[in-house]
Amino acid sequence: MGDSQPSCVLITGGCGFIGSNYINVTFNKWQNTRFVNYDKLAYGASPNHVEKDIQNSPRYKFVEASLEDQQTLNRVLAENEVDMVIHFAAITHVDESYSDRIGTIRDNVISTTTLLESIVNSNYKGVTRLVHISTDEVYGDSFADVTPKNEAVSLPNPTNPYAASKAACEMVIRSYWHSYKLPYVMVRMNNVYGPRQIQTKLIPKFTKLALENKPYPLMGDGLHTRSWMYVEDCSEAISRVALDGKLGEIYNIGTEFEMTNIELTRMIHATVNKLMNRDNTEPSFTPIPDRPYHDRRYYIDFSKIKNAMGWECTTPFNEGLMKTIDYYIKLHQKTARLQG
Ligand SMILES: NC(=O)c1ccc[n+]([C@@H]2O[C@H](COP(=O)([O-])OP(=O)(O)OC[C@H]3O[C@@H](n4cnc5c(N)ncnc54)[C@H](O)[C@@H]3O)[C@@H](O)[C@H]2O)c1
Repeated sequence: MGDSQPSCVLITGGCGFIGSNYINVTFNKWQNTRFVNYDKLAYGASPNHVEKDIQNSPRYKFVEASLEDQQTLNRVLAENEVDMVIHFAAITHVDESYSDRIGTIRDNVISTTTLLESIVNSNYKGVTRLVHISTDEVYGDSFADVTPKNEAVSLPNPTNPYAASKAACEMVIRSYWHSYKLPYVMVRMNNVYGPRQIQTKLIPKFTKLALENKPYPLMGDGLHTRSWMYVEDCSEAISRVALDGKLGEIYNIGTEFEMTNIELTRMIHATVNKLMNRDNTEPSFTPIPDRPYHDRRYYIDFSKIKNAMGWECTTPFNEGLMKTIDYYIKLHQKTARLQG
């Protein structure tokens, strides 16, 4: 595809956290591209995560359907003459994946495989590029690593059902590349944060608890570390890979910025206090049971995208966190007003 923008991009999962932010960031950059947002509206997803002026644009369309509905998918691809697909849709809840192992693996693997079938085996053959959104979790735990996980040499080694389902999707995609010439590129991303994330995830959930002066439930010793990347930075990286990534290749997307969950909680606590003009107090914690296996760290090498496309994160964490928390505070205040 070189540097040219697609005529019509199908965004799967565009009513979720990253997909909707991706549309909001990219829509006005890709001025000649039509956007079709294909989402089944799982828990926490909303068509209104996409900005109102985009929803009203003739270049934008929302289709409420599951990827497993192959007939609808085939029709939508053909009717809209889609030439690029960016595949965000997935069941993404790591904690729930331990209790619904079969559901998570079935949903993610079957919906991804159905999408691949529609791209390579339906009558419509117009898709020239699939951009698959994967995760650093496919590499598994990095706690003992002295060198970061690298796309070329580090093998997938997932440790939880969600990560296993995402690794399985990658393998199915690779098999379609070999057997059916599926034109794909793939990204594996660190943790992403920003507005419009489902309320059960750490930053929105702990912001609400901070507002309510409640203790923070922390798993295990709270010393697990994560690298956090602002959603607008990751959207830019995805666009670069979508336009310039080499077919059949994987690109790690990440940031050197890393902190423990307990440090992050303290930062959320202090930021909420600051934004609410409250005195800063000591946060209180409630220990909760840990995951059956809890990866302590994801340590990835993202020099490939940096060297090939000049991309790196530009949003300082404290700045991104401030914007994110400000968004959730306003959302909670609006919800409280609506509830009377
Ligand atoms: N959030 C992160 O930190 C992170 C990090 C790395 C990778 N990822 C990956 O990025 C992608 C997006 O993650 P997110 O955090 O925005 O998740 P999300 O749960 O907020 O959004 C997922 C969206 O997919 C939709 N969906 C799920 N199954 C579907 C199906 N069968 N058909 C149609 N729509 C379906 C949901 O309704 C939802 O809108 C996922 O593939 C995830 O694995 C996320």
